[in-house]
Amino acid sequence: MTDQAPETEIKVCCASFYESELVRLFLGDVLHPGGLDLTRHLGEQIGLGSGDSVLDVACGRGASAVYLAETFGCHVTGLDYGQENVAAAEAHAAERGVAHLTAFRHGDAEKLPFDDAPFDALISECSFCTFPDKTSAATEMARVLRPDGRLALTDVTVSGAVPEDLQSLLAWVACVAGAARPDEYVATLEQVGFDGFVVEDRSGDLLELVNEVRKKLLAVELAVGLGKLDLGDLDLDEGKRLARRAVELIESGTVGYTLIAATRPS
Ligand SMILES: C[S@@+](CC[C@H](N)C(=O)[O-])C[C@H]1O[C@@H](n2cnc3c(N)ncnc32)[C@H](O)[C@@H]1O
Repeated sequence: MTDQAPETEIKVCCASFYESELVRLFLGDVLHPGGLDLTRHLGEQIGLGSGDSVLDVACGRGASAVYLAETFGCHVTGLDYGQENVAAAEAHAAERGVAHLTAFRHGDAEKLPFDDAPFDALISECSFCTFPDKTSAATEMARVLRPDGRLALTDVTVSGAVPEDLQSLLAWVACVAGAARPDEYVATLEQVGFDGFVVEDRSGDLLELVNEVRKKLLAVELAVGLGKLDLGDLDLDEGKRLARRAVELIESGTVGYTLIAATRPS
């Protein structure tokens, strides 16, 4: 533990976790279940079009922002707490030739560094669950959207209380410890003024991702055993335990993945 406030520690830890080589090893650059197919579906859900100005809150390494700009011709601003993620996102956009359609900023989802209402649409993938103060994050999302602006989130959800063994810092950054029920996310968004909700169960996408990670964990364990890989102080056993537990919990319906789309009324 550091002397940071626990909320700050979660944000710092989450950002550095998702900037690490290790996460790249397991997930690549698309840091959410469902891959870019689900990102496209999200864009279609909220009717993205050319000329729209979109904010991607907690954009990670910019894979979705770049993909949305390429696919829908919209302008996407990505914001992330991790400075290295922001730099990687800028490099990715330049590589793909869409730097003119994208912009990336360092910042906190709970205190967005934008004026009121500059965006037509907002997405946030697999990140809302990691924000310690979800009401502040939702309030900020509503503030930066123009009236009639559209919101689409995909996130880890639970069907009841998060089991006690999933309350660790690792579970926070793996998006489990801070997850809530879909209706709780809807209530938080409703409370700050969103309406016109569409809710879709995407738990199959989460199960697929966890199973992929489990396969890679076995390959990594083998490489460590053969002395071909050094994981430093990473606790591979804890990672394996968490992944096994995640499968159990997804299959039993305790943990899931949900798409929530909504509108900010005029
Ligand atoms: C699971 S990753 C998802 C990244 C990206 N949305 C994607 O799907 O590829 C979670 C992201 O949330 C970012 N993050 C965590 N807390 C944040 C905060 N308070 N404000 C902005 N970004 C945050 C992390 O840096 C990380 O990039």
